[in-house]
Amino acid sequence: MCGIFGYLGYQDAAPLVLAGLERLAYRGYDSAGVAVIDRAGHLEVRKSAGKLANLTTLLEREPLSGSGLGHTRWATHGAPTDANAHPHLDGTGEVVVVHNGIVENYIELKARLTAEGHEFSSATDTEVIPHLIQELLAQGHTLAEAVRLAAAELRGAHAIACMHAGSPDTLVALRIGNAGGVSVGFGSGEMFVASDLPALLPLTTSVAPLAPGEMAVVTPEGCEMLTLDGRRIDTARQTVTMNPVAAAKGGHRHFMLKEIMEQPESAMSCLRGRLAFTPPSAVLGELPFTSEELRSLSRVVFLGMGTTQYATRVGARMTELLARLPASAEDASEYRYREPVVDEATLAVGVSQSGETADTLEAMHLAADGGARTLAITNVAGSQADRGADATLLMHAGPEIGVASTKTFVNSMLVMYLLATHLGHARGALTDDAAAGHVDAAARLPALLGEALELNRGVYERLAAAYVKARRFLFLGRGLLDPIAREGALKLKEISYIHAEGMAAAEMKHGPIALIDRETPVVALVLRDALYEKMLGNISEVKARGGVVIAIATAGDDSIAAQVDDVLWVPPCPPMLAPMLAAVPVQLFAYHTAVHLGNDVDQPRNLAKSVTVE
Ligand code: F6R
Repeated sequence: MCGIFGYLGYQDAAPLVLAGLERLAYRGYDSAGVAVIDRAGHLEVRKSAGKLANLTTLLEREPLSGSGLGHTRWATHGAPTDANAHPHLDGTGEVVVVHNGIVENYIELKARLTAEGHEFSSATDTEVIPHLIQELLAQGHTLAEAVRLAAAELRGAHAIACMHAGSPDTLVALRIGNAGGVSVGFGSGEMFVASDLPALLPLTTSVAPLAPGEMAVVTPEGCEMLTLDGRRIDTARQTVTMNPVAAAKGGHRHFMLKEIMEQPESAMSCLRGRLAFTPPSAVLGELPFTSEELRSLSRVVFLGMGTTQYATRVGARMTELLARLPASAEDASEYRYREPVVDEATLAVGVSQSGETADTLEAMHLAADGGARTLAITNVAGSQADRGADATLLMHAGPEIGVASTKTFVNSMLVMYLLATHLGHARGALTDDAAAGHVDAAARLPALLGEALELNRGVYERLAAAYVKARRFLFLGRGLLDPIAREGALKLKEISYIHAEGMAAAEMKHGPIALIDRETPVVALVLRDALYEKMLGNISEVKARGGVVIAIATAGDDSIAAQVDDVLWVPPCPPMLAPMLAAVPVQLFAYHTAVHLGNDVDQPRNLAKSVTVE
């Protein structure tokens, strides 16, 4: 995950920026850079691929003096080279930008700017931003105004910091959606900007985190806050404690909530370097298998447990749909004891956020012994799953402290979506155009997750209070949402201790319908997809028996509200993203119900983060 750090004040920025970037290094990076503007208005950039030590050496050799900003980059568009490292400049060399996010429409913006005579020196999407800003400055806008107007042209979620050689005492920072945080830190005669609180805390405890849609115009004396539509707002300055646990929670009451809220950013980390746009493809460089080997596969077996097993059910369906390969999602604890049929044409994919789940590891060994090629999908590099498999795809979700999996659930589905696209493309089941559609869809996920988190504000608390006395819950879904219904039930029971069952909606008629009454609310996942009408039928069956229905529906579906008791909205989205977006309301519903009950949300009773015994 990229890091941003900026400094304005009486000290030289470069050493402070370097130290700030060091404190952000835990987010992972593959190149780094610093830009500094001196009193005479000279803007200079130093950047270097590889570790921060390379940048430090460069700055020792070629020191810089003045105010400035820096960045640690994790490659998305363009290899991790010096040229692609941030900061990026416009053509005049006067506007400098660091950026966290993916400019989803950068190809069209770059084409337009190129046609207007702009020249680009990197392969990044970010470079269009300083060029857009420069164009607006040339039209007479102030720096703040130019940054704000340029931001309006960008699709996707972004965190941006920008300076201009002509005004070394001004730094403009903004946030669109949830591509990562931006906080302003207040000093005395000096000011800081950083993507993450831990980078600021050794310097100041007085901070103002930007909400999505806000921007800060920072000078050494203070800062002015605006919305991205240009309205001035009060600076929400707050004092944070130096308590490392509280700081690590980033202002959230629980790790689980923090981890739910950072899903746009963790999805972005997962996508970094894995999407190519020209020509479009899912780039899974970690896979050692040749196209020929991928074409020779006869099936894919996904192995996992618990929440992760529900993610694999989504992965198996995606694999079947996109790669036209028979695929199954197996309960690893059952698979390992049932003498399954395995051969050399089987790809066994062990999915485990911890990489240490005993049953999943054993099932992978069993498949390997039977001749299968093995692939691990895990969040922990160096875990047993990673070490034991032929290849690994990391989830890149960042550390997950809450025992209940949330962001690793979404990222594991996302990795399997990329895998299915890659397999489908390599095997000829997806045309170039179809693969391009999936690459575009995947790139939209971080921004859409941000939207999903913004919807239903205040509703979760109301629903938690209204339904907390329920005897039990049923969760119903179809297609790609059947596994999300199961996950919704699991999340609710593991942290609220209220009994819940999740199932394929049609299954309800075969027994569970006997449970329907006023004390058994039904959560129906009824997004606008191919099975929408079928789900409406299931909802009618519940209502006809006097049941209570909470729908999880597509925002804009005005007709659904009249048919159910309550609604939680999900933004309209490409079909393959539906399970990842529908995960958000089921997570937040469980979270707020458990908080309402006063439960220990981060460490629910009887549960552990990794289950290393069978
Ligand atoms: C529930 C949860 C568990 C895990 C399961 C597998 O929130 O986290 O159900 O999904 O124990 O864990 P991993 O993914 O580490 O193999």
